[in-house]
Amino acid sequence: MASFQTLPGFREFYPEDLARRNHIFRLWRQTAGTFGFAEYDAPVLEPLELYKAKSGDEIEAQLFSFTDKGGREVALRPEMTPTVCRLVGAKANALKRPIKWFSIGEFYRYERMQKGRGRCFFQFNADIFGEPGPEAEIELIGLLVQCLCSFGLTAEDFYVRLSDRNLWFYYLEALGLDEARIRAVLGAVDKYEKYGDDAFKGYTEAHGPLAPELKAKILAFLQVKSLAALEQTLAALGGEKLTARLADWKKLLGALEAMGLAKFVAVDLGVVRGLAYYTGFVFEAFDRKGELRALAGGGRYDDLVQKLGGPALPAVGFAIGDMTFALLLEQRGLMPTMVQAPDVYCVIGGEAERLAAFGDIQALRAAGFRVDYPMKEVAFGKQFKTAAESGAKLALIYGGDELAKGVVKIRDLTDRSEREVPRAQVAAQVRDFFSAS
Ligand code: HAM
Repeated sequence: MASFQTLPGFREFYPEDLARRNHIFRLWRQTAGTFGFAEYDAPVLEPLELYKAKSGDEIEAQLFSFTDKGGREVALRPEMTPTVCRLVGAKANALKRPIKWFSIGEFYRYERMQKGRGRCFFQFNADIFGEPGPEAEIELIGLLVQCLCSFGLTAEDFYVRLSDRNLWFYYLEALGLDEARIRAVLGAVDKYEKYGDDAFKGYTEAHGPLAPELKAKILAFLQVKSLAALEQTLAALGGEKLTARLADWKKLLGALEAMGLAKFVAVDLGVVRGLAYYTGFVFEAFDRKGELRALAGGGRYDDLVQKLGGPALPAVGFAIGDMTFALLLEQRGLMPTMVQAPDVYCVIGGEAERLAAFGDIQALRAAGFRVDYPMKEVAFGKQFKTAAESGAKLALIYGGDELAKGVVKIRDLTDRSEREVPRAQVAAQVRDFFSAS
């Protein structure tokens, strides 16, 4: 039966798995609502062109792409950012500002599978359009932190590494590098944590060896871990661009501190992000123990809306992936056991009693109660066992004796107390029980 298995890296969600996933989505959605973000959705299949040269070589190499029956080159979406740029770009003038949008959806990347990485995964994306200053980053980092904290995670469990591609550009410019060399250095910085000195191979191949004093300055910048250290490093260089950028950093970090979030945020210039479109502040969330791959990533991408045919519109956003996030919740014991218990279980004597029960079952369900009952005639004893195991709070007992008296027996499955109520009052009694408990 091997041919009927799922494709490698694709996931099936049995009811317990889906309950956990829904729990995560529910809290993300709720949190986005408290920050005033509006939900949108978009197609999973897109023109291949949308990602070519927009998302970057790494993602392009991971695309699930094919030619459809109409001869179109298409791809399953590997990320939401180009799509949301198209949506916003098409109606930019009509949309109420600030444009704060979120979505939850599935994405596809043909990646090497490892812990927390699959070929299909869900992301919560949140983005703000039309805001050029760090006010957008403040709002988004606040949202990112709260999306994780709403599950009970704390600053001891995760943190957000904050960096800045602009700062890198201005710094390397001040050190005398041209744009091509700056981009090559940033490529090396992106890989430095993983590959050490080997990360500079690409630079050396394209531009020749990196002067030792220059490399030392790059590595020193990578060591900057606080605003004070940043100010100190930049003081020697001066310059208008660097000074203005430092003011943005102060505004952003000052606001996050005022929100009580300083403990979640670490200055870390080692993060530059692999995606091609980022232009300013960039950030990634990680577990504190450093055992898992990134929980979330994002940053500013001020040119992408225009590159995709829309107006010039600054933008910032991030995405949290569901896989590493679920692993972290499980590791910390914060993934609740999802029980899909009925409120009421009906214990039914025989076929005649079943017909009597159906009226109440339908009425109770219409009133919003979760009601279950045995589909076939089963011995009373077994039904009581099922009722107890189901997690229901109440059992309604439709026996021949009860019905002959015109009553139904209600058993409280927690304290096992029982009482008889007239049949016409069953729904009202159940409602009273649940509104009291
Ligand atoms: P990204 O860093 O590529 O950014 O992905 C964001 C998150 O999605 C990652 O931190 C990770 O949790 C999850 N993720 C990515 N690839 C996989 C995979 N193969 N398996 C499991 N999880 C994965 C973006 O996608 C940007 N578009 C985010 C963004 C939104 N930037 C601006 N707005």
